[in-house]
Amino acid sequence: KRRIGVMTSGGDAPGMNGAVRAVVRMAIHYDCEAYAIFEGYDGLVKGGDMIKPMQWEDVRGFLSEGGTLIGTARCMEFMERPGRLKAAKNMVLKGIDALVICGGDGSLTGADKFRAEWPGLLQELVDNNELSQEDIQPFKHLNIVGLVGSIDNDLSMTDATIGCYTSLARICEAVDSVDTTATSHQRAFIIEVMGRHCGWLALMAGVSTGADFVFIPENPPEETWADDMCKIVKKHRSMGKRKTIVIIAEGAIDRNKNKIKPSMVKDILSNQAGLDTRVTTLGHVQRGGTPSAYDRMLATLQGVEAVKAVIEATPDTPSPVICIIENKICRRPLLEAVAQTKEVAVAIDNGDFAKAMQLRDAE
Ligand code: F6P
Repeated sequence: KRRIGVMTSGGDAPGMNGAVRAVVRMAIHYDCEAYAIFEGYDGLVKGGDMIKPMQWEDVRGFLSEGGTLIGTARCMEFMERPGRLKAAKNMVLKGIDALVICGGDGSLTGADKFRAEWPGLLQELVDNNELSQEDIQPFKHLNIVGLVGSIDNDLSMTDATIGCYTSLARICEAVDSVDTTATSHQRAFIIEVMGRHCGWLALMAGVSTGADFVFIPENPPEETWADDMCKIVKKHRSMGKRKTIVIIAEGAIDRNKNKIKPSMVKDILSNQAGLDTRVTTLGHVQRGGTPSAYDRMLATLQGVEAVKAVIEATPDTPSPVICIIENKICRRPLLEAVAQTKEVAVAIDNGDFAKAMQLRDAE
């Protein structure tokens, strides 16, 4: 029987458990054996009890649980070849030759690198007398399938990553709560949300809550932003608005690539607009808690597709990442999606914001 491993990696995201559940159950449905790799790549490198067979009932209740029940880690050892050598050995010992990984772009790139190195790693293990030619014989190819789990919605080629809509809903609830106290005191609030290189959460939260001003990394404001923001805020106030909400992505920068800090915006609103202003950093509240219906559905449909992709893979198929485009679950070449994602980060780094926006638009 074919053995398929599933793991979660990088920052957790609501819906990851639903993905694990779908992979385990779909693998069993296709008469394969499912294995969970605990604590992300750490588990793969350590092996032993960190890689466990999973039965149908082992994932009962997973769908509605937040975070990742099989654990995750940012593993440095796997970044180096000796770590990947240990991981390859553990996989052969457990009889696993297909991995479904739910994580961000970094985790997925690591996985594809592992696949590319696979034959060389196995040969090295034989040369080192750690495995025999017989041991490696059935493990000619490694199949990798990516599932994108991240609250940031920062991967190109997919409309939504697993977790982003739960996080957006959580942010909206938090902004609604801030709204009531802001309105009571006629205060201004600067609300910082997550999203390292990606302004999706900030932008969509701004749209969904009717914020007065939004800062995102891909489209930094004009140099006159302090005056512009004050003008807009004052206008809204003159129209009877009793509160001011500014949403700022944690990666927000100005056109010279200097970080725009919430405290700077607070000082401007206090001193230039004369508003009693507070800062609220939402932090990991945005990443925790129960997954929304959408993320449960997305994780399940994509987990099912991931197992199909493993079963249909040929040695020449490039590793796929499971996406959703215009409401359809589909496969895209993992490396292309990661490369496109990197292009946005590079454009921001180069100060080419027109290109960053153009790339985001094309996604
Ligand atoms: O990638 C998701 C994310 O939530 C980012 O938005 C944020 O920068 C980062 O993770 C924080 O992660 P951690 O606290 O786990 O290092």
